[in-house]
Amino acid sequence: METSLPESRRKFFLLSGERSTLPQAELRALVEVYDCKARLEKIHNRVFIVEGRFSPDAILKRGAYINAGGLFLSHCKMEDMERNINSFAFENFIEGSVAFSASVYNLSHEPLSEKVEVMVGSAVKRRLPNARVSLKKPQKIVIGIIFENNLLIGVSDYMSKKGWGSRRPRTRPFFHPSVLYPKFARVLVNLSRVREGEVLLDPFCGTGSILIEASLIGTKTVGIDISMKMCRGTMYNLRHYGLETLGVINSDSLRLPVRHTDAMATDIPYGRCSSSKGLKTKDLLKELISQARDVVPRGRYCVIVYPKAIELDSLESFNVKEDHEVYVHRKLTRAVTVLVRR
Ligand SMILES: C[S@@+](CC[C@H](N)C(=O)[O-])C[C@H]1O[C@@H](n2cnc3c(N)ncnc32)[C@H](O)[C@@H]1O
Repeated sequence: METSLPESRRKFFLLSGERSTLPQAELRALVEVYDCKARLEKIHNRVFIVEGRFSPDAILKRGAYINAGGLFLSHCKMEDMERNINSFAFENFIEGSVAFSASVYNLSHEPLSEKVEVMVGSAVKRRLPNARVSLKKPQKIVIGIIFENNLLIGVSDYMSKKGWGSRRPRTRPFFHPSVLYPKFARVLVNLSRVREGEVLLDPFCGTGSILIEASLIGTKTVGIDISMKMCRGTMYNLRHYGLETLGVINSDSLRLPVRHTDAMATDIPYGRCSSSKGLKTKDLLKELISQARDVVPRGRYCVIVYPKAIELDSLESFNVKEDHEVYVHRKLTRAVTVLVRR
């Protein structure tokens, strides 16, 4: 399979295998953040080639559902694999005395990973005799992705260590059952297309999951919660990870106490676990969107999570950019809607 994108500036990305529309949406949102003119080509549900002027590392560092990525090198059918790998000019893309490792992601059912890893590693060594293999601290990782009788080869500088485990809800000093998992919170931040240095507002911040993930990617954050206990909890949690915030405000978000934000991402209250002070979820959602109109600038985004059973029928000055669904358990499927301010 050949790709129609030109050779230069091509990157590849491998998405995680979640049965959801979120991984692809996250990649598209991040590509938009770093180069709105970039072109994406889907060559498999989980494999994308992107042509654009950005560093793949920026996207790898931020992405929750992006497992690997880097500079695209080559792409061939499995039957041409040996010839392709052995004739590939790795020396044009990798410095001579580099410490490298080879790593293969196998999306097929054939047990081929080890064979391809050895083949790639040996080919790199042949082309770059001064390069040395380092599994612990490679400067370059030569990546192979096997999918549907195809092999894609790329190279990456980035070793993914995003610490999801250390931010699991139960490992944080303040816990509440309404908490979001860090990967999901990170995806919401990324769908908001907020940039490093800009401000992200979570008007129902709870334990601070969204603010933590936004802060970790270099965004300034503001949180609001009607419960003082939750506000204090958010502060504990942020401090626990050494993160700062512009403020966590104990206030009612149905009368937003802020004037401006570059982006908004939030998980609105519903059910017994997260009180909405007597208001029906549908009315609360409507009121939030009405308030958001005054603080989110034109062309910027507002990401809202709510139970799928609720219909979003009043959009005020927003258009729906995209809609997703996330199954949580038998009684709860979450809707994730990305709104863009008109
Ligand atoms: C679903 S929880 C948010 C959970 C949060 N995303 C987390 O991961 O911890 C909703 C939060 O909204 C707060 N809340 C309810 N009504 C509110 C209102 N009118 N204004 C501000 N916060 C409110 C609740 O106290 C609760 O902490």
